Amino acid sequence: MNRCLTEDWFLLPHELKLQRAHAKALAAAGILSSEETESVDRGLDRIAATYSGQPCPDSDAEDLHTWVEATLTELVGDAGKKIHTGRSRNDQVATLLKMYVIGAGEALSRDVRSLVEVSCKRARDWSALVFPLQTHAQYAAPGNVGFWVLRYATAFARVLSHVDFLVSHWRRTCPLGSGAVAGSSIPIDRQLQAEALGFEMPSLNALDSTCTRDECIELLALHAQTALHLQSFATDVIGFSQTSQSWTDYPEEFSTGSSMMPNKRNPDAMELVRGECSAVASAHAQAVLLMKGLPSGYNRDLQCIKPLVRESVEKMGAMCVLVCAFLERLEFDAVRMARSLSLGSIDATLRMEARVLQGVPLRDAHHAVAAELREAGDVPTDTQASAVDLYRTLGGAHPEETRRIADMLLAELGDRA
Ligand code: ARG
Repeated sequence: MNRCLTEDWFLLPHELKLQRAHAKALAAAGILSSEETESVDRGLDRIAATYSGQPCPDSDAEDLHTWVEATLTELVGDAGKKIHTGRSRNDQVATLLKMYVIGAGEALSRDVRSLVEVSCKRARDWSALVFPLQTHAQYAAPGNVGFWVLRYATAFARVLSHVDFLVSHWRRTCPLGSGAVAGSSIPIDRQLQAEALGFEMPSLNALDSTCTRDECIELLALHAQTALHLQSFATDVIGFSQTSQSWTDYPEEFSTGSSMMPNKRNPDAMELVRGECSAVASAHAQAVLLMKGLPSGYNRDLQCIKPLVRESVEKMGAMCVLVCAFLERLEFDAVRMARSLSLGSIDATLRMEARVLQGVPLRDAHHAVAAELREAGDVPTDTQASAVDLYRTLGGAHPEETRRIADMLLAELGDRA
């Protein structure tokens, strides 16, 4: 359990970058001569050339940091033995994770942006397709399919603004130079290190820097939030494709047949998204539990957060790509949806509001329409697709409003780029 070289291996590119920044700072502090600094650089070049993109080597090294130090020392001798001056694996791993999380946040930003773009595009495409909106899984009111998908565009745009804010926040302070817990007596220029690694400045408290993993928790929370929206999306589409509704033309390449039942085409891709999203949401919960009540100062428990973060990043990236591709291909069956409009008396609220506009008090109009419905019984009603045009409220289900908001969200995306 002590060893984590294999689990660390995904951090190799960041580790090599960190070694170079640290060598620079050691040279500036007079610990490494210019020849030693050059030989360290050449050694790191060789490690990069031999190991980048390769599978983790067989080694007894405890973790990535000890492996790099040992490999570098084999290659360049004494200069390698000096490389760990003024630092600890505690500030090293904290820095690597922050670097990785920043990259993952940038990737999430690109992925979520694509989700906003494609949902807005489909919102426009589908704004004239009228179907019943549901509450409590019952048909409730006429809406348009674009309005439904715009629900997700709006949610993803909100997530995107949080992602971008947090990425800029993560870039501010660099943990490197915090040492094991209290810094070091070696006069390391932490500003130089921070800038060499793309941060604005050194972190403000070595104790905090070595024992928090806030950026990991925040990234996982963003993943979990995104996953919750993807899960609802998947569940909606699975519902729309059920036999009794058959509203979707579910794209064939995202489905499979049944090995036994020739009549089946199953919405597997969406079911898998729904399943994998639970793994993402629980990675966040697991990370929170891992951190819960840890005392100040580095504790080895922190090692366990790395696989959670890496797996969540990989799953999230794959799912965003999948859902974007799916959204591009998904189509709806206008005829089947039109038939559903006659079920559930979904024009009842509009009929009630028509009376209200003529001066009938809301509660009386409500009772009157409810009584009419009771009398008529469970017969299909003739709800016109055009009824959706009566939803005039800002943000409501009117097709023009759907297109207006889609354009607005797209324009905001453009402004943020
Ligand atoms: N491998 C550890 C981690 O990933 C870093 C090493 C810190 N170990 C220690 N004994 N202080 O978190």
